Amino acid sequence: MGQTLGCYLGFFCLVVPLTVADWNILNQKSHNGLKISLKNYCKSWRLNVELHNIRDFEVVPEECSEYIGKYVRSTQYQVDSEIAIEECLVYLSTSCNLKKDGRDAWIFDIDDTLLSTVPFYKNYQYGAKRLNLTALEEWMDKAKAPALDHSLRLFNDLKSRGIQIILVSSRREHLRSATIDNLVKVGYHGWSSLILRDSANEFVSVEKYKSDVRRELIKDGYRIWGIVGDQYSSIEGLPSAKRVFKLPNPMYYVA
Ligand SMILES: *[C@@H]1O[C@H](CO)[C@@H](O)[C@H](O)[C@H]1NC(C)=O
Repeated sequence: MGQTLGCYLGFFCLVVPLTVADWNILNQKSHNGLKISLKNYCKSWRLNVELHNIRDFEVVPEECSEYIGKYVRSTQYQVDSEIAIEECLVYLSTSCNLKKDGRDAWIFDIDDTLLSTVPFYKNYQYGAKRLNLTALEEWMDKAKAPALDHSLRLFNDLKSRGIQIILVSSRREHLRSATIDNLVKVGYHGWSSLILRDSANEFVSVEKYKSDVRRELIKDGYRIWGIVGDQYSSIEGLPSAKRVFKLPNPMYYVA
């Protein structure tokens, strides 16, 4: 397993090992000699992941595992997600001139967007322990991932507006029925299409795979009003949507 196969499967194309660690965290000093705590460092690490300044990290810095674990189980994480979802709703109410002709569309990623993988990553030191892809897929196959409640609320709101919901995930085809099971079990239903990776697109990056999907959708006449994802590879690349929304995820990076 490991890096090469992970990359081959297009799940986690990890290139460079983490190097921010030349911050001498044991000295608790920044490069400018500023006195900082481990918490300062880990908070800043997380913020810079979300800002997309830190990219391609293979694992969460070990010293931040506890902090990241606390964060993804905290009220703060929920509030961060809720505010992102609130902004989607504001945007829908104020800036979307829906045609309601069955071609208004919205794209969601699945993992850590609609469903939470936190219960899985708990056993992987919240991202500080190197991922085992086989174990992750075995876990996904059990269809036990909980819903992210704020995303479910947006999902239902979009449905009530007559927007077509399209799920685009880098999960592989063999997980299709488990994925459907899991989504339905926790309250998601009524999406128009569920797009997973197959052998035809396993070799391209996730960003390219997802933008190619959008190109096809646009060719089919869809107007993609928004994308919600927890990874930049879900929301970057062309063609895009009118707006994109990023949910927090400091546990892993998908290129
Ligand atoms: C990865 O997980 C699989 C399935 O749980 C297990 O059989 C395998 O030994 C694990 N590999 C490593 C390197 O831990």
